[in-house]
Amino acid sequence: MFQMLIYGYAVFWLTSVTTLETESDVEVRLLDNQNSPLMATFDMSKANVRIKQFVSDTIEGKMKDIKELWKRKKCMSDALEVKMKDIEASFNQKISNVERNLTAYFTDLLNGYAYQIPNDNDNENTKDTKLRPKGCEDVLQKRSNGIYTIYPVSNNNGFEVYCDFKTDNGNWTLFQKRINGTTDFFRGWEEYENGFGNLEAEFWLGNRKISDIMSTGKHELRIDLTDFDGITGFAKYSTFSVGNASTNYILTVRGYNGNIGNGLWYNSGMSFTTKDRDNDRDSTVNCANTRNGAWWYNRCTNVNLNGQYLQRSKYDINGITWYEWKTSFHSMKSSVMMFRKVY
Ligand SMILES: *[C@@H]1O[C@H](CO)[C@@H](O)[C@H](O)[C@H]1NC(C)=O
Ligand SMILES: *[C@@H]1O[C@H](CO)[C@@H](O)[C@H](O)[C@H]1NC(C)=O
Ligand SMILES: *[C@@H]1O[C@H](CO)[C@@H](O)[C@H](O)[C@H]1NC(C)=O
Ligand SMILES: *[C@@H]1O[C@H](CO)[C@@H](O)[C@H](O)[C@H]1NC(C)=O
Repeated sequence: MFQMLIYGYAVFWLTSVTTLETESDVEVRLLDNQNSPLMATFDMSKANVRIKQFVSDTIEGKMKDIKELWKRKKCMSDALEVKMKDIEASFNQKISNVERNLTAYFTDLLNGYAYQIPNDNDNENTKDTKLRPKGCEDVLQKRSNGIYTIYPVSNNNGFEVYCDFKTDNGNWTLFQKRINGTTDFFRGWEEYENGFGNLEAEFWLGNRKISDIMSTGKHELRIDLTDFDGITGFAKYSTFSVGNASTNYILTVRGYNGNIGNGLWYNSGMSFTTKDRDNDRDSTVNCANTRNGAWWYNRCTNVNLNGQYLQRSKYDINGITWYEWKTSFHSMKSSVMMFRKVY
């Protein structure tokens, strides 16, 4: 078992390298460019030999890269260089063998991402667990929008989400995105539960993950729509929650604010329905089939953001619709749904 957690910025200052009494732990203290302490602990006692060697090789390689970079930028002091040598020596001494996929973690670390290599999850190091982001609001490096690994539920492996730190003061977790119709959204219960698509393009995050994040506190919802004339609009709900599987992921929204109308009011209190799991209020049809989507359908819906992607503005109840905005079932060009924690 091998565990490691690093939060870091692409540019950081190394302040000390400590070898702990346990012989097998190596602790690295770093300061980011605003002098906030960052720390990485490598629990080497449990690492298997192959991983050790790989870590050693990778760190050595990356240290050289960093050194070269800093030399070129002429911002590396002699003292720092000595410390860089220390850490190399320390790691080389402690570590010995290979696990190929760790390369990506180190590369991403240097690109400013935080990652944790999943471990077997009993025997957690509490210090490390505390450092894990529970949601986008906990991600340390809030510079750029992108994919981060979060750990909303303890004793559970994390998963990737797309965080938006730019829109409306940031901290948003995206859970739905439609931009060009590349991804098919007419899918069944299991796929909506687990999520599908590409976090960098079109996707549904997954009802289980959404519900897990909901369990960490109170959240608000934001929806941004663009029509085929390029006109944008948004809706916010100051209360947003999605229940767990036992409620069929029931939706609660309250506190509308925005400029596209309170379309979702009709869906609040509804369970999730897919083409193969009918939880809607319509006793004659499955709304997922009549509206070509999957949603918190009532006696069907005015808002159908998981509907069929139509390549042009068109009246079609199967489309991506928000009736209250257009007073019509005209389809949207893009849709983004996101939530963030409120305190
Ligand atoms: C990466 O390595 C870890 C640790 O050995 C392993 O559990 C995981 O499945 C690997 N991931 C991939 C994508 O190979
Ligand atoms: C974003 O999260 C940070 C905590 O990491 C918090 O201090 C800040 O107020 C949050 N911003 C918003 C708009 O919620
Ligand atoms: C849809 O958008 C994604 C992300 O920008 C892009 O990778 C993909 O090629 C686009 N597909 C089409 C058909 O335009
Ligand atoms: C679902 O959430 C309720 C509380 O809202 C909880 O009592 C129940 O144990 C949860 N069920 C599952 C399967 O997680």
